[in-house]
Amino acid sequence: MKKIIPAYVRVPLIFFIIFGAMEYFIDSGDRPAFIKYPMVSVFLFVILFLLVAIEITISAIDNITYQLLTEEQKAKIEAENKLPLKESEWYKNLLQKLTKTEPIENEANLLLSHDYDGIKELDNNLPPWWVYLFYGCIGFAAIYLVRFEIMGGDNQEMELKKELAQAKIDVAEYMKTAPDLMDEKTVTLLTESADLAAGKEIFTTNCAACHRADAGGQIGPNLTDEHWLFGGGIKNVFHTITNGGRDGKGMIAWKATLKPKEIQKVASYVLSLKGSNPKDPKAPDGDIWVDDSAPKK
Ligand code: HEC
Repeated sequence: MKKIIPAYVRVPLIFFIIFGAMEYFIDSGDRPAFIKYPMVSVFLFVILFLLVAIEITISAIDNITYQLLTEEQKAKIEAENKLPLKESEWYKNLLQKLTKTEPIENEANLLLSHDYDGIKELDNNLPPWWVYLFYGCIGFAAIYLVRFEIMGGDNQEMELKKELAQAKIDVAEYMKTAPDLMDEKTVTLLTESADLAAGKEIFTTNCAACHRADAGGQIGPNLTDEHWLFGGGIKNVFHTITNGGRDGKGMIAWKATLKPKEIQKVASYVLSLKGSNPKDPKAPDGDIWVDDSAPKK
């Protein structure tokens, strides 16, 4: 084994396996554990030192034992070290353990007595690699049977359902803390003057060209009256601005240009203009919109 992986590969390899394991198991947030906790660095350094020390000691011991050998033994070890991996004692032993093959000379012992028109059969051992795999499968089957058929473990469908349910909860949780991701179902009317001022700015830049700076209407409809083509109220107006009006009328979907948060502000601003009676308003389009969700008097 020592021959296959030289020390200059082995030491870094073991070191990085330990290093990776520490980073994996120690929860250090967004910074690497060895920076966040100096003790980890110290520990890793000691490990590295020990690895090198062990390598040096082992090679020193090897050297000394080698010197103590007789010439004959030395020659034998030399010869063995020169052998390619596939011919080395270690590899051959491993292969023998895994396959338990009989050498071809012993074939006569394995021969079964029957003879089918000259075709004979050998009674070879089952190769241990196969036998152990088979035992493994039996063990797996037993555990599987108990876990899923007797104890009622979740099958794939159940797992999927649970994950989907959890994902829904996670998304709802995320939406709460990320107002930028609101949609027409969760949007609320803003009334703070800072928000409305921001909305006004967005309106002046993007919308005034068609709806006029006072929203009295020009190419687009008057936004200050009670008449709405697609419904009034924050949810409808948010929906119209996000997805646009009818094809070819000129009102594009603004979701590509404006963030939901910005659409919320400009929609709130538009709604704050209700009843502001600008001069020369455009004739009303659409129907008078009544808020069904408002408390009835
Ligand atoms: C290119 C011209 C144009 C621009 C720019 C424009 N609109 Fe419009 N808007 C229109 C037209 C035209 C309609 C009517 C659409 C229809 O009839 O389908 C409309 C409809 C609307 C409606 C629906 C009114 C109702 O009666 O339901 C709202 C709300 C609205 N626009 C808001 C905005 C906002 C906010 C902006 C800026 C982000 C904007 N518009 C930019 C042309 C425009």
